Amino acid sequence: SPSDPDLVERARAAKEKLGDKVFVLGHHYQRDEVIQFADVTGDSFKLARDAAARPEAEYIVFCGVHFMAESADILTSDDQKVVLPDLAAGCSMADMATAEQVAECWDVLTEAGIAEQVVPVSYMNSSADIKAFTGKHGGTICTSSNAKRALDWAFEQGEKVLFLPDQHLGRNTAVRDMGMSLDDCVVYNPHKPNGGLTAEELRAAKMILWRGHCSVHGRFSLESVNDVRERIPGVNVLVHPECKHEVVAAADYVGSTEYIIKALEAAPAGSKWAIGTELNLVRRLANRFAPEGKEIVFLDKTVCFCSTMNRIDLPHLVWALESLAEGNLVNRIEVDKETEAFAKLALERMLALP
Ligand code: 13P
Ligand code: SF4
Repeated sequence: SPSDPDLVERARAAKEKLGDKVFVLGHHYQRDEVIQFADVTGDSFKLARDAAARPEAEYIVFCGVHFMAESADILTSDDQKVVLPDLAAGCSMADMATAEQVAECWDVLTEAGIAEQVVPVSYMNSSADIKAFTGKHGGTICTSSNAKRALDWAFEQGEKVLFLPDQHLGRNTAVRDMGMSLDDCVVYNPHKPNGGLTAEELRAAKMILWRGHCSVHGRFSLESVNDVRERIPGVNVLVHPECKHEVVAAADYVGSTEYIIKALEAAPAGSKWAIGTELNLVRRLANRFAPEGKEIVFLDKTVCFCSTMNRIDLPHLVWALESLAEGNLVNRIEVDKETEAFAKLALERMLALP
């Protein structure tokens, strides 16, 4: 739906008043009405890298979800203030691994006698606490665009990886990109004693996958892939690696949101695409590329928006920008110093990956 012209004007005016004092970052899953005000758009890797690109900006308004705003705070200087326009914009996947659960998991690995061999690799979609745990134990962060490089690095440091919190990205990367087998992977369930695994199973595994998933991408199914192939002959199926393994295995291409955009930019006129990722992005791409004769459809019509990404809407953005323009710092996301130090170590290992 088109954005309310009054709100558009208010956002524009507040942003103009703030000038260089504000830097607005927008994740690709954000609504059109919000993304139009982003100074930079990107996938989670690009946004982590770009967060520090404007050190003179006093305020960084992060249009995305909580863990992204935390990462921006960790990667920017202490006098830059990161603002999340709606504090309820969390991520259900990030919530699936808490600091207590992960500490307990480490005890289980220690008791099984393997903690020394294990390198934690945590997906960007995790809380600052989990990133700090990762940094403390010699591990790195990864995103969907560098997961293979992160795993290559981790297997140079140790024999096993504890992959948090997205089991699908972990499994898909291990099997699809690293040549491992499904049997090399076990799933650690934080709701079961010892993760639901025996010490023997832990010792035999190369990849210990945390039992977390994305509630949006987890809904794409093998049937969605089969159906779209039947409906649209010659269609290219392109999905995000947060999808289940059977979906990724049946797809033609797999990659992060930034990869998806690049693939469609490079696609020839007349080509047909079914995309398995968040709906705001897919709709925007369908509209953008339709005039070039590229047909882009959503992989499964029963899957909907990421509800927490969608919490950042134009009214929230206007409220945040107007508050800042009036000198009121609202909805600041600030990671405490000790957590920040270890989390930064893990994030910097990611940024240094070849
Ligand atoms: P990317 O932007 O890294 O592809 O990640 C998608 C996502 O789910 C972020 O929450
Ligand atoms: Fe989290 Fe999934 Fe939404 Fe991304 S799409 S923010 S992983 S719930």
